[in-house]
Amino acid sequence: MSERKNIIDMQQLMLRYPTGKVALSGVNLSIKQGQFVYLTGESGAGKSSLLRMFYGGFRPTSGQLHVQNTDMRKANMGTVRTVRRRTGIVFQDHRLLFSRTVFENVALPLRVQGWNKDRLIPRVRKVLEFVRLEDRLWSYPEALSGGEQQRIAIARAMMATPPVVLADEPTGNLDEDTARHVLNLLMGLNQLGTTVIMATHDLHLLKSHPGRIVQLHAGALVEDSYAR
Ligand SMILES: Nc1ncnc2c1ncn2[C@@H]1O[C@H](COP(=O)(O)OP(=O)(O)OP(=O)(O)O)[C@@H](O)[C@H]1O
Ligand SMILES: [Mg+2]
Repeated sequence: MSERKNIIDMQQLMLRYPTGKVALSGVNLSIKQGQFVYLTGESGAGKSSLLRMFYGGFRPTSGQLHVQNTDMRKANMGTVRTVRRRTGIVFQDHRLLFSRTVFENVALPLRVQGWNKDRLIPRVRKVLEFVRLEDRLWSYPEALSGGEQQRIAIARAMMATPPVVLADEPTGNLDEDTARHVLNLLMGLNQLGTTVIMATHDLHLLKSHPGRIVQLHAGALVEDSYAR
């Protein structure tokens, strides 16, 4: 496997879903380690589909896609799982387990890697300090506000210190102030060196949080620029 300095690299990427729908076509894009990228475009433009391919949720139908030095078209399931372990994911609906405590939710990515509780507790405390919810270790998610739940989802995504975090509309359900707080956390994570790729409709947030903007339209890349 040859070394690439880009964490994500694609050429002429095309995705056709089993339904026949072509969600992406002719997409050329490279993302360097450490960048903060906003993925924008109208509903149905292909943002979630693109993020899905970055963690092996779907394979490209044609073209090239390398994620963390892995050829995602040729990778076997074991290799895809390795890429997934090295990827933090935050969704709009956060997908926390409501029957489990905050500790158990956040611990999950390292629990599946075999970490025991004695090792997990200090690590979970540390990531909860980052999102400033360390006092909620033993709470259940239902006792938290929507914004707090999203911060827990960010803590979970950073648990295994992945080189890249994918966020699909992480501020979609939140009021303006809470959305800013969540975005601040993602920016803070980026400042620690994590590549962050965030699909969003909230482009007004860019005024206070500049970054690279990659815009899709009907499955094609139509703009790639830096906003200040
Ligand atoms: N699993 C699927 N099977 C078939 N078609 C799909 C699937 N997921 C998405 N699509 C279609 O692919 C296109 C792109 O969808 P995608 O979810 O990537 O858009 P999006 O940019 O994330 O939109 P939104 O802003 O509404 O979240 C849409 O036409 C959608 O209907
Ligand atoms: Mg989407």
